[in-house]
Amino acid sequence: MDLGLGGKIALVTGGSLGIGRAVVLGLAREGVSVALCARGRAALGEAAEAVRALGGKALAVQADCTRPEDVTRLVRAVATEFGGLDILVNSVGAAKGGNFLELTEEDWEESLALKLRGQIRCCREALPVMRARGGGVIVNVIGHRGKQPDGRALPAGVANAGLINFTVGLAQEEARHGIRIVGVSPAPVETGRLRSVFETEARVLGVSVAEAGRRWLAHVPLGRAAKPEEIADVIVFLASERASFVTGTVVHVDGGATRSL
Ligand SMILES: NC(=O)c1ccc[n+]([C@@H]2O[C@H](COP(=O)([O-])OP(=O)(O)OC[C@H]3O[C@@H](n4cnc5c(N)ncnc54)[C@H](OP(=O)(O)O)[C@@H]3O)[C@@H](O)[C@H]2O)c1
Repeated sequence: MDLGLGGKIALVTGGSLGIGRAVVLGLAREGVSVALCARGRAALGEAAEAVRALGGKALAVQADCTRPEDVTRLVRAVATEFGGLDILVNSVGAAKGGNFLELTEEDWEESLALKLRGQIRCCREALPVMRARGGGVIVNVIGHRGKQPDGRALPAGVANAGLINFTVGLAQEEARHGIRIVGVSPAPVETGRLRSVFETEARVLGVSVAEAGRRWLAHVPLGRAAKPEEIADVIVFLASERASFVTGTVVHVDGGATRSL
């Protein structure tokens, strides 16, 4: 299937590791020029090199998506270097887990500042550039706890529920500008982040990290965590011309973990 992505320009926030990195490489394989941002320089440079090794064009920008001035500079850099922006994939986000009464003010503040407000901020900066081009696509990486709450993943659930609302609502507004906005909601994915979730669970339950991981994954009917590429493939498709009538919705790529229609 020709995805019709050749020659497009994308920005992947949180593109140096995990799901974001898999999206960066997936888009590059389709002939997309890819800008990526993260805070850490080393992984960012390594991901950009991996794109170049595929023969693709990469722009690595060190930026912290909790800082408005960084996000403004980031989008400006992409527009200047690549000449516009067609696709934004928001893959930043990490929310604190654990018992509710042990979560501090700062835990809530940090979780919402990056996952919820960071993704909203990136959309706000990207939209004028897309509108000026006459269209575009935004894919927000959300998470199944937005629809499938868990008492030890409340900041993730609250941030994700907010992002579902934001994604669907914003899509209503931007459709007339030719901009599609969709969400992708994974359940557990094999990334560095998942290891820290298992460690928190192990501490709370007083069991080994391996046992905590086994129990955590028991709610996924397919019985395992996803590989980052299994999420990225769906995101690349949604960003493509082949998904031209998909907007204002959230696609669950979660091994059946979300029990809602
Ligand atoms: N993994 C899962 O099980 C899972 C499940 C459901 C939803 N999700 C969601 O999927 C998204 C990606 O998760 P992941 O597991 O791929 O995470 P990951 O492997 O930890 O990668 C996170 C990426 O975001 C960057 N990042 C973190 N904080 C940032 C900041 N303040 N500004 C800019 N970049 C920042 C990281 O680089 P630096 O640290 O160097 O900045 C890295 O590139 C997140 O929104 C997460 O909530 C993940």
